[in-house]
Parts: sequence; C-alpha cells; structure tokens
Amino acid sequence: MSKAGLIVGLQWGDEGKGKIVDHMAQTHDYVCRFAGGHNAGHTIVIGDKKYALHLIPSGVLNPKAKNIVGNGVVISPKDFIKEMEQFGDLKGRLFLSDKAHILLPYHALIDQARERTKGDKAIGTTGKGIGPAYEDKIARVGHRLGELLHPDRLTEKIMAYFEANQTIFEAMGIKPLAKEELLKELEEYKKALAPYIVDTTQMMWDILKEDKKVLLEGAQGTMLDIDHGTYPYVTSSTTVSAGACSGLGLSPKDLGKVTGIAKAYCTRVGNGPFPSEELSKEGNILRQNGYEFGTTTGRPRRCGWFDAVAMRHAVRINGVDQVALMKLDVLDGFEEVKVCVAYEVEGKEIDYVPYDLEEATPVYQSFPGWSKTQGIRTFDALPQNAQSYILALEKMIGTKIGMISTSPDRDDTIIR
Ligand code: GDP
Ligand code: IMO
Ligand code: MG
Repeated sequence: MSKAGLIVGLQWGDEGKGKIVDHMAQTHDYVCRFAGGHNAGHTIVIGDKKYALHLIPSGVLNPKAKNIVGNGVVISPKDFIKEMEQFGDLKGRLFLSDKAHILLPYHALIDQARERTKGDKAIGTTGKGIGPAYEDKIARVGHRLGELLHPDRLTEKIMAYFEANQTIFEAMGIKPLAKEELLKELEEYKKALAPYIVDTTQMMWDILKEDKKVLLEGAQGTMLDIDHGTYPYVTSSTTVSAGACSGLGLSPKDLGKVTGIAKAYCTRVGNGPFPSEELSKEGNILRQNGYEFGTTTGRPRRCGWFDAVAMRHAVRINGVDQVALMKLDVLDGFEEVKVCVAYEVEGKEIDYVPYDLEEATPVYQSFPGWSKTQGIRTFDALPQNAQSYILALEKMIGTKIGMISTSPDRDDTIIR
C-alpha cells in the first residue's frame, strides 16, 4: 500500500505549484487535483513552450502520468473541454470524479454580479463562479458530474433550480438559458466528457493498493483557505492538506510526504489583508522581475516580502515536511532583502497569525542581497548571501527547504 505525496501552496496562491508538480510528475504514476476549479492557473515551462493549466492536473505534460480530478473540485464542463483540446486524446490518462460538482455559466454570472454590487468591498474573485458553485454544493442544490450521463433528467433539475431562483436571477439581471438550449449544451458536454467520468474514490483506493506513486496537487494557497485564510477574502474551498482527504476520498493515513510551495517573497491577487505588501518602488521591481501577472485573469499581482509568521502558520496547518522555495532569482539584484519576522498589533509584537490580519503591521529583518542566482542548479553554486538567506528562512519556519527554484524552467531546480 503506497502513500500519496502532497503538494500545497503556503501563501496566497501562485507560488509555483505547477512547476514543482510537473517536475515531480516525472517520477509519479498519478497526479490528482482535489480542490478548487478553473480559478487556479498553474504555469509549466518546458524549454520554450509555456502551458497554463486550470483544471487538468499538472501531470498531463508527462506522457507516463495519469491524471485524476477528484470530487472536491468544481468542474466547468465548457472550460474543461476547451482546456483538453490542447492535449489531443486523453482517454486512459484522465479521470473525472462522478461526484465532482458542475459549475455552469450562471455561476460565473452570479459571481460577477455580486462582485459589482460590493464595490470597494469586493473580494476580487476570478469571476469564474467558484463561490456560487460551492455554495450550491453545500446548500445541497448542486449538480454532480455523474448526472451529465442523463442530460434530459439534468435539464429538468436545472430548470427547477432556475425557477426556484427566479427572483434572484431577475434582480441580478441574469437571463437563464431556455430549456432546449440547456439540453443541447448538456448533451455536448456529455459527448465530450462521458468517457472520462468514473468513480475516482474507488480508483484512488485501488491505485494506492497497487503501490502506484501518487501525487496530490493542491490549488490556491493556505491563506486563501475558507477556514484558515483571511476570511472573507478567501476562496470557497479547503485548500490546505486536509482538503486532499475529503476532495479525493482518502483517509489521513493515506497521506505521505507533504511538500509546501512558497515564493522567496510574497504575492497576492485580489483584495484582503497582506501585511508585508510593498507599495513602493521595490514592490514594482518584484512584479516586473517575477512577471507577477495572473495566469487566469492577467491581473497584476500585489507584491511584498516573505512573511515568516504566515509561513509558520501554513507549515503547521499543512503538516509540511519540506518547503520548495520558488523564484529565488526574482530577488537577484536587490541591495537588501526583507523578511517579516513578527507582526505588531495594537502596539504589541506577536509571532502568530491573529484573528484579523488587517490589524497587523510587519516587523522586518533585513538581509544583504546578491547579484545572480538565475538558472543555478546546485546549492553550493549560489552566492553566499543567497545561501545565508535560505538558511535563515529555514530556521525561522522550522522546516527544511528541500527544493529551490531559480527560473521557470523545469530543470532549473536545486534539490538539497
Ligand atoms: P501556481 O498557481 O502555484 O502553479 O503558480 P503560477 O503558475 O500561477 O505562477 C507562478 C509563475 O512563476 C509562473 O509563471 C511560473 O512559470 C513562474 N515560476 C515558477 N518558478 C519560477 C522561478 O523559480 N523563477 C521564476 N522567475 N519564475 C518562476
Ligand atoms: P492557483 O492555484 C491566486 C483568489 C482570487 C481572490 C480569491 C477568491 O493558481 O494558485 P475565487 O475566484 O476563488 O472566488 O476568488 O482567491 N484566487 C487565487 N489567487 N492563485 C489562485 O490559484 C487563486 N484562486 C483564487 O484572486 O482573491
Ligand atoms: Mg496560479
């Protein structure tokens, strides 16, 4: 019986999970997504080719790895089908849970309408309909992928849903599809996706029993978790390790080594507290050097310094065994690199994440910078100051930094 390795984001998403999952997929038989939807954007660079994945697990670029999308994911059939097109036939290499909930275009319209009415209180969602789709699931009025196998029955159910929500739809200016259009659309989805829909729970149990090497790919990041993130400025799913169990039908005993992904600095896209955000020239340099623009929405990401307090919180919640420190090269050329080592709240210094992170101001420690780490593939070849920075972070977060990434390329990865 094997145990499934786990990859989770430790910050506010976009840490570079895609690159590490792709790197590790070379030695794994299965890669499985367990939460989120097409709000995720995982970028993989191989030579001069760049891929952006949203719903398909990042194992897809390794021809030997099979890919599973678990019940914890919300799937937009329309977007899934579009994403699949770039990879040709995926039969036998891709499996979708019959229990995953379906995200339909009206979920996105509700998401966007709500954000508009919130004005400056908006969450800054990706506008993909993630919140409304998970709401329907939790409210027990959602529709599951298994239902796609019977489009006529599903059409009836969705029409009844439209009727029940008519006043809300009208108030938001949303015009739901007519019955015939809906049926036609669902039939198309069925045609494209039916061959991939299976009981992935049973499948997970079988492959672990067969001792296959399995990697679970988290989406978003710990600080966007519905319970443990900066609520309400979070996403609507369980992004932390615990979500891998419920999102795939695993028990805690099925989980193996946890690799947490973190940038050597910090970014956040969307609104909400971000204590170590740098609004100065330096924040701009991070954004330019790191090309910090969203994979899913193209929005500029907010940038700032590494937050060791939030990182300790993330390491503990996820049970992280090793950290992969990403984008070290983005700090190349800075004279001084800062790390948030504590927060000040109401004049008092604290070393934990408080109830309301909005109240926290950062306490910084400075480190001398270095000239170039870009493309370096061994720890010893890194400039001395970069080595010292990594060793200091390791001490602050109390976890081994086992991997270091120095460029978007699959091969520019230091394994310690
Ligand atoms: P994910 O959502 O966690 O998979 O991360 P994204 O793909 O949204 O964002 C990470 C971005 O950083 C992508 O454009 C990657 O190609 C890029 N990237 C990953 N690792 C490195 C690195 O070590 N250095 C640089 N410069 N870019 C990297
Ligand atoms: P990956 O997997 C970064 C953010 C949005 C917004 C909040 C809620 O690429 O790391 P949602 O559309 O989920 O309701 O938006 O969550 N967000 C992400 N930020 N990376 C992501 O995914 C994200 N997925 C959602 O920007 O602040
Ligand atoms: Mg991303």
